[in-house]
Amino acid sequence: MKTVDFGYERVSPAEKTARVRDVFDSVAGDYDLMNDLMSGGLHRLWKRFALAQTGLRPGQRALDVASGTGDIGAGLARQVGSSGLAVLTDINHEMLSRGRDRLIDHGLAQVQFLIANAECLPFADRSFDCVTIAFGLRNVTDKAAALASMRRVLRPAGRLLVLEFSKPTLGMLKPAYDAYSFNVLPWLGGIIAGDAASYRYLAESIRMHPDQQTLATMFRDAGFDECRWHNLAGGIVALHVGVVH
Ligand SMILES: C[S@@+](CC[C@H](N)C(=O)[O-])C[C@H]1O[C@@H](n2cnc3c(N)ncnc32)[C@H](O)[C@@H]1O
Repeated sequence: MKTVDFGYERVSPAEKTARVRDVFDSVAGDYDLMNDLMSGGLHRLWKRFALAQTGLRPGQRALDVASGTGDIGAGLARQVGSSGLAVLTDINHEMLSRGRDRLIDHGLAQVQFLIANAECLPFADRSFDCVTIAFGLRNVTDKAAALASMRRVLRPAGRLLVLEFSKPTLGMLKPAYDAYSFNVLPWLGGIIAGDAASYRYLAESIRMHPDQQTLATMFRDAGFDECRWHNLAGGIVALHVGVVH
C-alpha cells in the first residue's frame, strides 16, 4: 500500500488528509495568536516579503491556496484592488471561515472564498496572474499534484509563490532551532491551544518537507520554466518563485 508522511509517521494518503484536517479543525481558533507567539511576529515580515514578489497590478486576478485565516489573501486583495479579483481557497472550512470573517471586517469585499483541495483546483486553465500558497504545501498529501494544479491555472508570465518552512542554511542554528521546535512549540501549543500534539506535528512536518533545492526541482517537474528561491531567517523559511513563460 502507498504511504505518505504525516510528521514522522507513515500513513495512507487518505489518513494523512483526514489527520491534517483534524489538526486545523483543532488549531483554527488560536491560529493567529499562536503564529505571532511561535514566530515572535516574524511570520508577518515573511508574508510581507512574499507579497512584495507577486508582481500583481490593479485589475489582475490572484489566487491564494491554503489561505487559512487570510493574511496573504488580504494582501492580494489590496494589490488587485476593486477592479481585480482575489480568490481565497482552503480545504478546511474552520480555517477559511475565519479568513472570510477577517477580510469582511477589513472591508475587503471584492474577494471570493471557496473550499478546494490544492491537488485539484476547480478553475479553468490559465485563469490567474499569480498563485500563492503560504505554509500550506507542507500539509498537502500529494505535493506534486498540487504544484501541477497551481501551474495549470496560471496565465503565461504568471508566478507561483510558495512560502514555506525550509532547511536552515546556518549549521549553528540547528541545535537551538531543534530544541525550540520540539520542546517550546508543543509546550506553547499545550498551554495556549490545549493541543500539544498538533504543534508536535508542525515541528515534524517541517523536518519532512523537501529542502530548497528539492522543492525547486519539483517546480521544474511540474512544468515551471524558472524557479528561484529566497532564504528568510537563515533558511528557516524560504520563498520559492516559479514562473511560466
Ligand atoms: C499552516 S496553515 C497556513 C494558513 C495561511 N496560508 C497562513 O499562511 O497563515 C495551512 C493551511 O493549509 C490548509 N490545507 C492543508 N491541506 C490542504 C489541501 N490539500 N488543499 C488546500 N488547503 C490545504 C489547511 O487547512 C490550513 O488552513
